[in-house]
Amino acid sequence: MRQTRKLHIKSYGCQMNVYDSHRMADTLAPQGFVETQDAAEADLVILNTCHIREKAADKVYSELGRVRVLKEEAAQQGRKMVIAVAGCVAQAEGAEILRRVSDVDLVVGPQSYHRLPALLDGVAQGKKVVDTEFPPEDKFDRLAQPSGAAIRKRGVTAFVTVQEGCDKFCTFCVVPYTRGAEVSRPAAKVIADVERLAQAGVREITLLGQNVNAYHGDGADGRPWTLARLLYRLAEVPGIARLRYTTSHPLDMADSLMEAHRDLSALMPQLHLPVQSGSDRILSAMNRRHTAAEYLTAIERMRTAQPDMAFTSDFIVGFPGETEADFIETLRLVDEVGFCGAYSFKYSTRPGTPGADLDGQIPEALKAERLARLQALVQSHQDRFNAGFFGRSFEVLFEREGRNPGQIAGKSPHLQPVQVIGPSHLIGEVRRVTVEEVGIRSLFGTLHGEPVPAHAAPMLVAAEA
Ligand code: SAH
Ligand code: SF4
Ligand code: F3S
Repeated sequence: MRQTRKLHIKSYGCQMNVYDSHRMADTLAPQGFVETQDAAEADLVILNTCHIREKAADKVYSELGRVRVLKEEAAQQGRKMVIAVAGCVAQAEGAEILRRVSDVDLVVGPQSYHRLPALLDGVAQGKKVVDTEFPPEDKFDRLAQPSGAAIRKRGVTAFVTVQEGCDKFCTFCVVPYTRGAEVSRPAAKVIADVERLAQAGVREITLLGQNVNAYHGDGADGRPWTLARLLYRLAEVPGIARLRYTTSHPLDMADSLMEAHRDLSALMPQLHLPVQSGSDRILSAMNRRHTAAEYLTAIERMRTAQPDMAFTSDFIVGFPGETEADFIETLRLVDEVGFCGAYSFKYSTRPGTPGADLDGQIPEALKAERLARLQALVQSHQDRFNAGFFGRSFEVLFEREGRNPGQIAGKSPHLQPVQVIGPSHLIGEVRRVTVEEVGIRSLFGTLHGEPVPAHAAPMLVAAEA
């Protein structure tokens, strides 16, 4: 073991970045790096960045301004602090980051961070290092595995990337450029990762991919597996009580996935299915390659398979050319589906994407006005959805101590935060809860008596004829 050094990682953007940050820490642990929450005492600071909207990318530079000061203070104390920029801004801007902020030592993209130990050796030799390659080797084969202690520290829920990159090229989006082409990991490797996590006490797995439902990794039988097939297999892993997956694309809603929701009690009845707009004209300009009606059909098919299904979505307002009439179609679609939540964003022009060159860019004030209207409507649906849980009972996976002493907190099947009075030894357990109060951010309930056993095998509910 080498000398102990301190590592501070800050993650921006999506859940895949959170996952990547963990894997960076795993890969640096054998090099003697121990994580710290305090950037000031770190020997290595990694900003794992997001390029999706202008604001997200700008945040990196303001944060680098703060980290530079810490680096200078460290130098005054005779300590060398290494600053690394990882993630999607690193991929998009590469060496430009070094030109803008000379205190940055290392720039590493989302497909090459398995090389961090070697890249840091370069930095130790006094070099400025940039690696934004899309290397032929599979980074997942080269990343170090987390220790049992590291897994337990991260809690009873975990992410596992199963598919990465995107070939869909929506005209607003940088992801195909920052993450590269769509690649699915082999099923056997995903299963091994999930087994390792489960053995260390993880109870809920969220499978990640930019288009996770397009998953088509090699199966053990040499043929590609669908996401559904993978989910059936993962539901058999002892200790795994819950499965989720995100983010799905409306074009890849296979019947097999609906059947998995019908059959697998471990597969939670909640789906994040971004639609972006309710206007066919705008959907076409966005290159989403489906209509609003086709989206609604996908929702209906899912609801037929699993009536308890709840949906969340992503929206972009103010895409170039969006008229009031287009926007009203988006509001109409929100009313029609009745989402239990949604993220909505003002369109942000991204350099290098086709959307940046379109006519009809919308003024900021109009985007802000539409965003406020959309968010108010989504909120009203969300409030109604949550209010409907008053007096209802369901299973909660407890994840952590609650906000107040004596409370424990977890999530409902529909991903709602739930708080109850209960003992902390229930963290990591699934228990039935009855809701007694619907708060703004959480449901408050009381615990039922008996523990719900982990599903050692998928519990099949009667298949519909
Ligand atoms: N792969 C997912 C989404 C990935 S990005 C999908 O296909 O839906 C997450 C969300 O960020 C998108 O759903 C979109 O709503 C938003 N987003 C992406 N690019 C954007 C941009 N240029 N401006 C505003 N929002 C954007
Ligand atoms: Fe971006 Fe579209 Fe790919 Fe989603 S499907 S990551 S929005 S290009
Ligand atoms: Fe952002 Fe890259 Fe994720 S741009 S949303 S961190 S894939």
